[in-house]
Amino acid sequence: MQSKQTREGKRRILIGACGSVDILTLPRYLVAIKTGIDCELTVLMTASAQLFLPAASVGLYADRVIAGERPEDWPTDKPSRIVADHDLLAVLPATAHMLATAAQGAAPNRLATVILASNFPVLFFPVMGAVMWEKAAVQRNVRQLREDGYQVAEPVWHENYDVSLGRMVGHPSLPSPEQTVELMRTSLRR
Ligand SMILES: Cc1cc2nc3c(=O)[nH]c(=O)nc-3n(C[C@H](O)[C@H](O)[C@H](O)COP(=O)(O)O)c2cc1C
Repeated sequence: MQSKQTREGKRRILIGACGSVDILTLPRYLVAIKTGIDCELTVLMTASAQLFLPAASVGLYADRVIAGERPEDWPTDKPSRIVADHDLLAVLPATAHMLATAAQGAAPNRLATVILASNFPVLFFPVMGAVMWEKAAVQRNVRQLREDGYQVAEPVWHENYDVSLGRMVGHPSLPSPEQTVELMRTSLRR
């Protein structure tokens, strides 16, 4: 696997942000990555991710944001260019949809295409409801991804206030920003 870095010796990290409710915590993770790793940080957002968090807001915490699925959004950001520009992809948060898509080797959108075209370590950070996470189909996709050489981080249980239910509800979510940075550092050393 080819190791790439900028002329200044910085690592080039790509975050693939999916449409999970926990994308609202993404800025905390981006700050932790920028302060914990000497890197250039790009965020590639799915269309669903953009429904939760505007690309312009994410741009306040990253060096570069790539968003949009129309061909005219792609001229300078083709999947091959994005792959050539980076040496680690963390899919964070990773939805059940994106795990299934990558486990199938499908490329229906820009992030999935980059995952399929990647020649560097890809680390998934799944977030979803507990029932979803325990479903045989999701666990099968996680096993498949690991068998295919991808890394899938174990989710960590989080309690959030659910407005519609009017109580705290737990679900498998992201490790802490510090743990996430450590996992990314380990992947970069491989
Ligand atoms: C309010 C809301 C919260 C959601 N949170 C999650 C989540 O945490 N995990 C998940 O797998 N899907 C979640 N979904 C479903 C995804 O947004 C949906 O599957 C979407 O197609 C994912 O697209 P993407 O994987 O291309 O980003 C949520 C949907 C809504 C409306």
